Amino acid sequence: MSKVHKEQETGGMALHAVQAGTPTQDAAGLLAAALKPGADYSQVVNAVEAVLQCTQRGLAGDAASYAQYQSLLLELHLPGEPRTEPTRRWMASQIYLVEDKFAPELPNFTALPVDQFRERVDAEIAARTRVKHPMSVHLFEGTPPLRDVRFFLQHHWTRSYNFYSLLAELAFRFEAIEDASVFYRNLYGEAGAESPDRSHPALLAHLMTYFDIPLSIDFARLDPLEKAYLNNRIRCVRHTDVAWGLALLYAVESVSCVNHRRIYELLQRLDVPAEPSEFHRLHGTQDEIDTEEMWNLIAKLAPGESFQRMFMQSLVRHFDINKAYFDMLWQEMQGQAIQNA
Ligand SMILES: [Fe+2]
Repeated sequence: MSKVHKEQETGGMALHAVQAGTPTQDAAGLLAAALKPGADYSQVVNAVEAVLQCTQRGLAGDAASYAQYQSLLLELHLPGEPRTEPTRRWMASQIYLVEDKFAPELPNFTALPVDQFRERVDAEIAARTRVKHPMSVHLFEGTPPLRDVRFFLQHHWTRSYNFYSLLAELAFRFEAIEDASVFYRNLYGEAGAESPDRSHPALLAHLMTYFDIPLSIDFARLDPLEKAYLNNRIRCVRHTDVAWGLALLYAVESVSCVNHRRIYELLQRLDVPAEPSEFHRLHGTQDEIDTEEMWNLIAKLAPGESFQRMFMQSLVRHFDINKAYFDMLWQEMQGQAIQNA
C-alpha cells in the first residue's frame, strides 16, 4: 500500500483507494447531489469520500486536483442554503483533517518559554512581511497606473469584505466570555458600533464604488490560489484547535495597521476624497484588535508544546499561501500591463 493510501484513514472514515486516473470531476457531481433536498446518508458519504480523495491528490502535488479541491471547499465555506449548512460544515471539517496531515513540517521545533515564543512569532511575521513583495514595491513606492490600483483594490475587497465573519467564528470557539470578548469587542467596531453606516464593509464599499469596482464577487471564477487564501482563513478560525485561528488572526492583525497606512498614503497621492478613503484612514491609524490584548489570550494557551507547534504551523501555512497568492496577483497585474502596452 502506498504512503498516500495509508494516510487515507481520516476522521474515523476509511477512504477507498485512489485509482490512477480517477476522474476528479466526479467529486463536484457527487457533492451537488449530496446537497440536494432528499439526499440520503450514503450520497453524503460518497461525496465526502470523493472530495477527500481529491483533497489528498491536490495536496500531494496534483495541480488539477488542488484547483478542484479549493473550489469545492470554497463552495462548502460560502453561505448557501441554511438547510445544507450542517452537512457543509461537517464535510469541510473532514477536509481540514486531511489538510492537517499536510501541515508544514517544522524540523528542529522545540517549545519555548512564552515570552521567547512571542519573539519567535513576531520574527516570523516580520520576515514574511508583504512590504518587500515586488507588487507592494510597485504599488506603494512606484507610480502605478490606475488600472493596477483598481486591480489591487478589487482583490482587496474579495479578501476583506467579510473579515467580521472570521472574528465571529473564532469568538465562538471560546467558551469563557472573558476570552471570547476579545473578538466581540472588535466585532462591535466592525459593525460600526452604534452607526451601521460606519460598518467596515460599508466604508470599504465606498472605495469600491469610487473606483467603479463591483461589490458582487464571482467566486467560481477566482484563481485557485485566491480560493486557497480565502479557504485557509475560514479553515483556521473554524478549526477545533484554536491555535490555528489565533495564529491566523494575530498574523493578520499585527501587520494590519502598517499595510492599511501604506494603502491610505497611496490613495492620498491619487487625490481620492475623504469618504472613500475612510476605511484605510481608520485602519491605518489603529489596530483592528488590540494586539496586546490578543497576545494575552494567546499567552494563556501558549505554554503547551502542541499549541506552540500548531500555532507556528498555522503561521507558516498562512504565509506560504499568502506568498503564492500575491505572486499570482503580481503576475496577472504584469500580464495586464503587457496586454495594454
Ligand atoms: Fe475593520
